[in-house]
Amino acid sequence: MTHLRYRNYFLVYLLLTACGFLPAQAPPPNYDETQVPTYTLPDPLVARDGTPVTAADWPARREELLRLFEDHVYGSVPGKLDSISWQIVEEGEAMRGKALRRQVAIRMYYGPHELRAGLLLYVPNQANGPVPVLLGTNFFGNHAVLPDTAVLLTPNWLPNQKAYGITDHRATESSRSARGHRWNPELVVGRGYAFATIYSGDFDGDRPDDWTDGVHPLFYTGTQQQPAVDEWGTIAAWAWGYSRAIDYLVTDTLLNPDQIVIMGHSRMGKAALWAGANDPRAAVVVSNNSGCGGAALSRRRYGETVASINEAFPHWFNDRFPDYAGREEDLPVDQHELIALVAPRPVYVASAVNDRWADPLGEFLAAYHAGPVYRLLGASGLPQDTLPPPNEALDRTTVGYHIRRRGHAVLDYDWNQYIDFANRHFASSGD
Ligand code: GCU
Repeated sequence: MTHLRYRNYFLVYLLLTACGFLPAQAPPPNYDETQVPTYTLPDPLVARDGTPVTAADWPARREELLRLFEDHVYGSVPGKLDSISWQIVEEGEAMRGKALRRQVAIRMYYGPHELRAGLLLYVPNQANGPVPVLLGTNFFGNHAVLPDTAVLLTPNWLPNQKAYGITDHRATESSRSARGHRWNPELVVGRGYAFATIYSGDFDGDRPDDWTDGVHPLFYTGTQQQPAVDEWGTIAAWAWGYSRAIDYLVTDTLLNPDQIVIMGHSRMGKAALWAGANDPRAAVVVSNNSGCGGAALSRRRYGETVASINEAFPHWFNDRFPDYAGREEDLPVDQHELIALVAPRPVYVASAVNDRWADPLGEFLAAYHAGPVYRLLGASGLPQDTLPPPNEALDRTTVGYHIRRRGHAVLDYDWNQYIDFANRHFASSGD
């Protein structure tokens, strides 16, 4: 009896939801491989009109895919800056003499608007000539990445975090190095790479209720107060931030402009892939545990789904992506095509065994299914369609992959893999 009553309530709930009276809630996550729906991936090598794509057709197909990702997932960038300028605002010895620290103010202008961001750079001292650089976007400010008291504090909004002493959305002295467990700039510098980082919130604060900060208002027209349905969400703003940092990096004579590696973890891994798809100056693109909306295939609906990500983070994507919740098969793209947009440049996707929310197998399969595009363009894809064992990287191909033991994080194993991978490609490209 009770059972029946609950069933009736549930039917009424479904009806109200379907009629738009109640917000649809994402169903609980699936972690059972047998419950993954059967799906067919869109073929990156077949154009929308059904024409097979040859190497000569790839540039046009690439544009088509970029527009589809803009229109249905990340949103388009509505304008182009009038100008951008940089100023080195601080410089000093760092890492006990191992590196030069350089802090750069990036100023971006459009019409009457200005946006400022801070870039933090460490360049190894023992270099003979320009060095490769690894660029990552951080989540709590440049000062939170490592214990260096000279790092400038961002004036911009930060997520509150009591443990870091951030209670009014402002950077604090006590949040210095708070994210040191996620970053290892000294390891990067020790391996002969410069390390660069920017704060995501300088480009857009990670909050759903506010479209007044960050880059979005720069390009509003008329009385516009938030991005239009198909315009950029926050992930696209972060991806844009990677490119503005690259604008500076290619001008710094201590760095090799042809050896820029961009890397992002988790939500920044999603942004790094979208940045790498758009910006060919990113010579190597690394996505660490990026999951749904990053490297993981949406159609698998394993762990985090299109429904759950848009429910929890309604500001990350454009306003069309949520329409695909529960009907992923209608998406005109899937994430293997995002990875393929980096081709033929090297791309590395990394998962972690316990990071089931990010769907490690979905991340691997997306990397695997980018392979045909890499091969078409004379590069190489992953050599097998089954997951390698933990900590046994598939890193000899232009698409690299590993699944690391333990959970959602960036560990020294990951950093070393990324540098080994980039070294191999830089050595073979003769740069
Ligand atoms: C949440 C979110 C993920 C994201 C992650 C992170 O878990 O659901 O999509 O990747 O945060 O950025 O750490």
